[in-house]
Amino acid sequence: MSALRHFLDLDQIATSDLRHILDNARRLKAERRASRSVSGPLAGRFLAMVFERPSTRTRVSFDIAMRELGGETIMLTGAEMQLGRGETIADTARVLSRYVDAIMIRVLDHAALEELAANATVPVINGLTKLSHPCQVMADLQTFEEHLGPIAGHKVAWVGDANNVMASWVHAAVHFGFEMRMACPPELSPDPALIAAAQAKGAKVLVTTDPFEAADGVSCVITDTWVSMGDKERERRQNLLAPYQVNDRLMAAAAKDAIFMHCLPAHRDEEVTTSVMDGPQSVVFDEAENRLHAQKSVLAWCLRLEGF
Ligand code: CP
Ligand code: NVA
Repeated sequence: MSALRHFLDLDQIATSDLRHILDNARRLKAERRASRSVSGPLAGRFLAMVFERPSTRTRVSFDIAMRELGGETIMLTGAEMQLGRGETIADTARVLSRYVDAIMIRVLDHAALEELAANATVPVINGLTKLSHPCQVMADLQTFEEHLGPIAGHKVAWVGDANNVMASWVHAAVHFGFEMRMACPPELSPDPALIAAAQAKGAKVLVTTDPFEAADGVSCVITDTWVSMGDKERERRQNLLAPYQVNDRLMAAAAKDAIFMHCLPAHRDEEVTTSVMDGPQSVVFDEAENRLHAQKSVLAWCLRLEGF
């Protein structure tokens, strides 16, 4: 394993490190509530934030996380950089590494993320690719445990498109001892290699086409947009996914105290009804807030901050 602490995917990081990051995130949240003062452990450090796709939460939460830890950010978009004119990812990694202390990147091509990490001499953080969204799922795990306690032994249902956020949930199931159920249309089902890898590592995962089978008695129902960034054939996807809407009927199949999660942005009354989004079981804005705390903790881990 490289001495650099990249944060690329949850299946590449030790369970003990992930648990440590989550525990720290909880502490950082409590400390922020008590006093908003910046303690400054990242004073003088810079995070480059490279976005090839739009973002609200990832952009703002990483920016505030860095600033509250005393550091600074530089926001870059692929189109504004020489990347957009053909400079290679590898050369971009080498150059940015001479200026900044860490790089967070949102790029659809997962191979580009890996190439950036392979050539950077500073930690690289995955801010979403077409294959995964690990920062989101760290915030989601924090949110689950705030509401329902340790996640081990619980059942969680993903209902809808088998996308990047779902893949990071599958990675998390390997580490944290919960059962991961997925209900997806056959045409948009999870990558068999992702499922086989998780099962080979002992994760409890179930793949079905029936949303009610997946949601039966679970502690948490999760969904996401039916059309992710970079997806084509919007209408075909919407037709295939229509039976997978999370609504009050589906939530009634889950445990009585079940929570509803969505990474946002949501398309109300498509993948989730407004009644569920705004209902008492929804924790979607806690998830959004926890991006800030979880990512502070990820930054502290990547940068090997003393005392974190
Ligand atoms: N959930 C999430 O990553 O949101 P943004 O696309 O707004 O960053
Ligand atoms: N699955 C969505 C997540 C957005 C945060 C996408 O990739 O567009």
